[in-house]
Amino acid sequence: MYGPVAPASDALDKATTSLAARYGTFVCEDLNVAGTTTNRRLTADGYDFVVVASRLPVDRVEDTADKTGWRHSPGGLVTALEPIMRKMDGAWIGWPGDAGPAPEPFEESGIHLVGIGLSAEEVRDFYEGMCNATLWPLYHDVIAPPAFRRPWWDAYVTVNQRFAQAAAEQAAKGATVWVHDYQLQLVPGMLRELRDDLRIGFFNHIPFPGYEIFAQLPWRRRIVEGLLGADLLGFQRQADATNFLRAARRAAGLPTKGSVVHAGARDVRAASFPIAIDAAALAEIARREDVKERAREIRQLLGQPERVLLGIDRLDYTKGIRHRLKAYGELRREGRLGPETVLIQVASPSRERVEQYRLLRDEVEVIVGRINGEFGELGNPPINYLHQSFPRDEMAALYLAGDVMLVTPLRDGMNLVAKEYVACRNDESGALVLSEFTGAADELNGAFLVNPHDIDGMKDAIIRAATVSPREARRRMRVMRRRVFDYDVAHWATSFLDTLREVPEPVPGRA
Ligand code: G6P
Repeated sequence: MYGPVAPASDALDKATTSLAARYGTFVCEDLNVAGTTTNRRLTADGYDFVVVASRLPVDRVEDTADKTGWRHSPGGLVTALEPIMRKMDGAWIGWPGDAGPAPEPFEESGIHLVGIGLSAEEVRDFYEGMCNATLWPLYHDVIAPPAFRRPWWDAYVTVNQRFAQAAAEQAAKGATVWVHDYQLQLVPGMLRELRDDLRIGFFNHIPFPGYEIFAQLPWRRRIVEGLLGADLLGFQRQADATNFLRAARRAAGLPTKGSVVHAGARDVRAASFPIAIDAAALAEIARREDVKERAREIRQLLGQPERVLLGIDRLDYTKGIRHRLKAYGELRREGRLGPETVLIQVASPSRERVEQYRLLRDEVEVIVGRINGEFGELGNPPINYLHQSFPRDEMAALYLAGDVMLVTPLRDGMNLVAKEYVACRNDESGALVLSEFTGAADELNGAFLVNPHDIDGMKDAIIRAATVSPREARRRMRVMRRRVFDYDVAHWATSFLDTLREVPEPVPGRA
């Protein structure tokens, strides 16, 4: 077991806290369960704003044999929170993404980072198991069958406790702690047990399922109670918040009124805060001459087709990649689309050790191979398939190169790719085909909405998007751009934190 370890007793906890208070920053040595010592850095005052997310906003890069470096990975969440982190003296607690001991806390781009270590068994049972083979499929409408394994649950409890302990150590008195996503649903409750002076927010990035599905979870009550340790629970859509409120009533037997759960002495609010992107920053990248030139080059490499359809997804069964490929294959077979319309499908590698993801990769690659085999010409495949991840600039160039963006998940909390495409289309051209089952569909009114299960309906929508008049395309894109720029990621973070701040001051002892 790695990472910050719970002190052996309350007494030790109190002792370390009072030492920290007296001597400021110091390093204390703890014996971890595996029997090796780790250094744990405590600060006297702690941080006023603490983000707790399953991942750190950095990637580990091996510089030399004995030196590990870190590269800033500018995901949406970091971009959103960076300015606030700097202003509020923030710390970020997360997992570096591989098995092994936690790195020492370090600074990167002005943010204090605290790594949580996971052992190889915990990566298997917590990350691959409970997070990505139980909760992920369960919360996405059981598109893949969730597996319920008790050792996975035990690892989930242990790892959540480790994150909660680290947050309790890093947070200053009365600090705001913002916990993120389905991997850490027990952290709010565990953290409140450790520190009743904190203001705790939680945001769920993925859907929260209807009660009939959620009820399958053997640990449903524990999850609901864990979440209710927060003062404010944020969800992507109102429907997700409503599903949670129902779960609070049914699984935990608690009364609710409007958006509030009466959890004993505390009231907890559940509301929607649709996540967004840094639209202005992305639009700026897409405006750069080198990025535009790269977009032209991409089209050239494809043989200057009349039309480029584009799909960009993590290779995940929730994304509807197979349904999309089926629709495109049938359109080619029926001659409704010809060689003048090519598809770029980027499927970035994800969770490759989880069985469902391995199966999906095989299925997708068989379908791509069949379509390319059947309709391709030498040097001109109908589908350009890339099982790779790309840096931001290349993504922006791809968005510029795509005339029609295909976003067809079977279920998706939000889908930021849809918003990114819109942000990049500075000339207001382009069309978005968007699944009804994404959070983004609630916001992007100019999209061509589809039910991805209805292959014929999806085919018609692709044709309509591909042949829309430039005038109509511009009208639709303008509506979507207004939304994406007005409700950007800064607005998202601020509205969540402002609402959290409205919660009455915590009264210590009244948990
Ligand atoms: C989704 C989840 C995130 C997760 C990301 C990548 O967007 O909401 O919490 O980090 O997928 O998945 P991974 O398993 O690689 O962290």
